[in-house]
Amino acid sequence: MKVLVTGAAGFIGFHVVKKLATQGMEVVGIDNLNTYYDIDLKYARLSECGVDAKKIVDNEYAQSDEYANYTFLKIDLVDMDRLTKLFDDEQFDVVINLGAQAGVRYSIENPSTYIQSNIVGFLNILESCRYHHIKHLVYASSSSVYGMNDKLPFSEDDVADSPVSLYAATKRSDELMAYTYSHLYHLPTTGLRFFTVYGPWGRPDMSPMLFADSILTGKTINVFNNGEMVRDFTYIDDIVDGILEVIPCIPGKEGEELYCRILNIGNSEPVPLMLFIHTMEETLGRKASLHMLPMQAGDVKATYADVTKLIALTGYSPHTPLKKGLSSFVAWYEAYIHAKDTRI
Ligand SMILES: NC(=O)c1ccc[n+]([C@@H]2O[C@H](COP(=O)([O-])OP(=O)(O)OC[C@H]3O[C@@H](n4cnc5c(N)ncnc54)[C@H](O)[C@@H]3O)[C@@H](O)[C@H]2O)c1
Repeated sequence: MKVLVTGAAGFIGFHVVKKLATQGMEVVGIDNLNTYYDIDLKYARLSECGVDAKKIVDNEYAQSDEYANYTFLKIDLVDMDRLTKLFDDEQFDVVINLGAQAGVRYSIENPSTYIQSNIVGFLNILESCRYHHIKHLVYASSSSVYGMNDKLPFSEDDVADSPVSLYAATKRSDELMAYTYSHLYHLPTTGLRFFTVYGPWGRPDMSPMLFADSILTGKTINVFNNGEMVRDFTYIDDIVDGILEVIPCIPGKEGEELYCRILNIGNSEPVPLMLFIHTMEETLGRKASLHMLPMQAGDVKATYADVTKLIALTGYSPHTPLKKGLSSFVAWYEAYIHAKDTRI
């Protein structure tokens, strides 16, 4: 099976590539390597997959030294000509679309990049999948589509038409666009609504890395809504397992009416923000300095995944408790920072 992974230099994409490549799957990874956050982290993830930054040249495949079955190509999802050539050349079976402009807060500062990557880019992926008869498109959606939904846990059957950030609006639009392509062209699509993913090689704009950095360097942590928030923190390995288990479950293939599906994927054990901070303090062996603030625009108070549908489909069983997941994250983060400081 040949798989395209978009956003391959990103947090989740990197882990998905590594797992697929380890399992012997033929994988092509693409990413536009934008500078929304530290580009060195993206290069470091690629290097961890055997793709050296020096090998990355526009319009040329970079072969992994680690996996004979993995190649990387720098492409922007917005560039339809290059995507078309890639799909023509490679004849993929499955596409996993993780490339996107992520981050709720940044969508207030820079809305247009969300429209480009998440709407135009996603349309290009849908068109490419349509014309190349892709067997299954699995794509990233987000728990943020639930907006201020106050019915917990969040179920896929809940109405999700009141997004409170442009990021959430683009993710919900992706789901609607996928529905249309599945309906019109029988393109099998599965949208996965991820719930706060954390772990090694994570994103610098998300709370685990922001908090760890502040605690280690003695900076004050801004705690929004006075800490009265809960998040369904989900460990990266549990997310990757869930994505891989969904690939062979092709909607519309077993007499189902619809060729599209939307599923929550989360730990289903929401953690109060203050407990998260205390667990991080314990793991790092240092106290945090906290600055309590009101709620931020675009943010939501609670996320909590009902994963009944995913369990029924694949037997999904996330098994990483917060303490264990944070220990793995901190071990990686300290080593990464140390290696970075040593290089400088
Ligand atoms: N991490 C989470 O907690 C979380 C939660 C909900 C949804 N998601 C979604 O999961 C996906 C992966 O998230 P992540 O945490 O790995 O984020 P990430 O930012 O680390 O990875 C996304 C990657 O996509 C690339 N990219 C962005 N725009 C692109 C474009 N136009 N063309 C090609 N590549 C492009 C970026 O360079 C980046 O490497 C995203 O779609 C995100 O919205 C993540």
